[in-house]
Amino acid sequence: MSSIKIAEKAGFCFGVRKAVETVYREAEEARGEVYTYGSIIHNEEVVKDLERKGVRVLDGPEALRALRGGTVIIRSHGIGREIYEICEKKQLRVVDATCPFVAKIHRIVQEENAKGRQVIIVGDPAHPEVMGIRGWGRKDTEVIESAEDFEALGLEKGKSISIVAQTTYNLTKFKKILDKITDLGYDIACFNTICNATQERQTEAGRIASEVDAMIVIGGQSSSNTRKLAEICSAACENTFFVQTADDLDPKVLASFERIGITAGASTPKHIIEEVQTIVRSEF
Ligand code: F3S
Repeated sequence: MSSIKIAEKAGFCFGVRKAVETVYREAEEARGEVYTYGSIIHNEEVVKDLERKGVRVLDGPEALRALRGGTVIIRSHGIGREIYEICEKKQLRVVDATCPFVAKIHRIVQEENAKGRQVIIVGDPAHPEVMGIRGWGRKDTEVIESAEDFEALGLEKGKSISIVAQTTYNLTKFKKILDKITDLGYDIACFNTICNATQERQTEAGRIASEVDAMIVIGGQSSSNTRKLAEICSAACENTFFVQTADDLDPKVLASFERIGITAGASTPKHIIEEVQTIVRSEF
């Protein structure tokens, strides 16, 4: 092996770093039980470490309703209005680590509804961030993943529609959907709410993958942004390895490559990235 290229944008984005730091701080300082509403990040290692520090994961509104007190930390994905209402009713202490970029979408949805416009969210309807965004809209707020989904809604022409995107949505796909909806003759207001952190990470990963013989993508299998990175890298480099930790790497296999690239998803802790780097460097 003769060179290693490490993505500068690899690992925690700003919102995830803030959320993870918040949970570690609360685990140390908070009085009483500490909970996160959903796993704080899609990374088993971190979730297990927090469990050892006494932090428990709540898997939905029912788990929240069953609490008798304690601190509930809201992760970077954010939540819908009704979840805050449950916390208030139960008099739980809420520590809000919603990413500011997601909180901005919540505000847009409310403002657009207040103007009388229907909101359409472009994203994955099953993703917690999208479910949270929907939780700030009126009943007619819809989620679409394609222009076909939009057409299937059968909305009357001339209706005022405001469109937002899941922060991790693909920008090119978002633009195509907007073009199609405009062509259909609807009065639309578009809000490009896609986060730059995702775009930058994807562009950099694709570039590095096209310049190396083997590409390592580090992150949890359940992390959609890491899976997307692996997809982009696989398209640019046929020897792409999607690993969760350094243990998943075979140093002998790595030794057969000249140039190796490394990137990591937004929920991959720094120490895991460093462990992988150490293994790769040991093959020099
Ligand atoms: Fe926030 Fe963007 Fe990360 S929306 S959580 S900084 S990917």
